[in-house]
Amino acid sequence: MKVGIDRIAFSTPNRYLDLVDLAHARGVDPNKYLIGIGQSKMAVPTLSQDIVAMGANAAQEVLKGLSDDEKSLIGLLIVATESGVDQSKASALFVHELLNLTASMRTIEIKEACYAGTAGLQLAADFVRAHAGAKALVIAADIARYGLGSGGEVTQGAGAVAMMVSANPHILSLEEHSVVLSRSTDDFWRPNYSTEACAKGKYSEQVYLEMFAQVWREAKSLGLTSVGDLQALLFHIPFSKMGRKGLRSLESMIPPADYERLTARFEKAIVYGREVGNLYTASLYLSLISLLEQDDSLRANDRIGLFSYGSGSVAELFFGTLQSGYNDRLNRAGHEAMLAARQRLSMSEYESIFSDSLVVDGSRQDIEDGDPAAPHALSRIEGHERFYR
Ligand code: COA
Repeated sequence: MKVGIDRIAFSTPNRYLDLVDLAHARGVDPNKYLIGIGQSKMAVPTLSQDIVAMGANAAQEVLKGLSDDEKSLIGLLIVATESGVDQSKASALFVHELLNLTASMRTIEIKEACYAGTAGLQLAADFVRAHAGAKALVIAADIARYGLGSGGEVTQGAGAVAMMVSANPHILSLEEHSVVLSRSTDDFWRPNYSTEACAKGKYSEQVYLEMFAQVWREAKSLGLTSVGDLQALLFHIPFSKMGRKGLRSLESMIPPADYERLTARFEKAIVYGREVGNLYTASLYLSLISLLEQDDSLRANDRIGLFSYGSGSVAELFFGTLQSGYNDRLNRAGHEAMLAARQRLSMSEYESIFSDSLVVDGSRQDIEDGDPAAPHALSRIEGHERFYR
């Protein structure tokens, strides 16, 4: 039975910072950000645009057009995030309510830095294989925050990708055989008391590349990486240079024509990510959407490799096959319009939004709606409870 991604969509805040403005403000040559890091803009969320709101907004698009009967087949909702809103209650439960999903389902949140979305996708695929007729909704949502003036500031961003996983999927069927790797490292983490991530950036790049090399080698020895078959290879993209380094590490190992094809497709796979920045656990899946919507040369039955990496660290190299008619399930015009309609922030606006915070003393805080046109937003906290519209 084929199992995989049946529907997919992304949501990102309606404001961004142009990285040329950031470079000027920080006294850096803009080409360091545009070329050296490989990013152009980063999404800036307001307080109302937390991972619940962004995740529900992405999922709302995925659910569009589904009948109530079809929705009732969703037996599992997973929110994968590093930016959870509560230490106990799963953010997925807020999303569950906002989407008005059936009560008869499992609803959980999972975490492993930028890998969690893949853990969610694979758990969902196994769930669908084990429960005939069932579907699973997976949301990867994150806010990447490193801090004003920090080394990682240029690699921030925010957004969510929602995926419906089902049997006989219309977009990408997933192969059951993948290569996974776990190894405890301290390359990127965020202590419970901190709203900003800690990162050893260069060390993280090193671990990312080492783990990619290891899963690639193992996949090759298992006969999974026949590059002639592989029409595209996607990477976790915390910033596009990172994925580019991963791809470049293959240059001397694969035939030039294959490397050229994978490189051309890589350029299409980073179009959206360059515009919104790091989405942590959603980044790989934003790259998948970017590839499918921006590349006109892919065809049904093309095989795609996906390299997922989450600091801490877990890596997985897995594969999927494009399904016929996959184009009909995409929303290129809608996603491009969402990006084009965003408001460009000045540096002072960005710094002011970045410095906003929720009250922590249990008092009431009404939160200005950052995007009234979006379906969902955090509207208030009171008595330490969160309220959404
Ligand atoms: N024009 C073009 N390229 C330039 C440049 C210029 N004017 N100035 C610098 N560069 C290049 C550098 O050569 C370097 O390229 P390389 O990576 O290919 O060697 C790149 O820009 C970055 O410059 P560097 O000085 O090494 O960057 P940095 O010390 O500011 O750190 C990160 C960059 C990405 C490591 C940092 O932003 C970070 O830590 N981000 C967090 C990332 C993270 O932790 N991710 C974890 C999840 S995987």
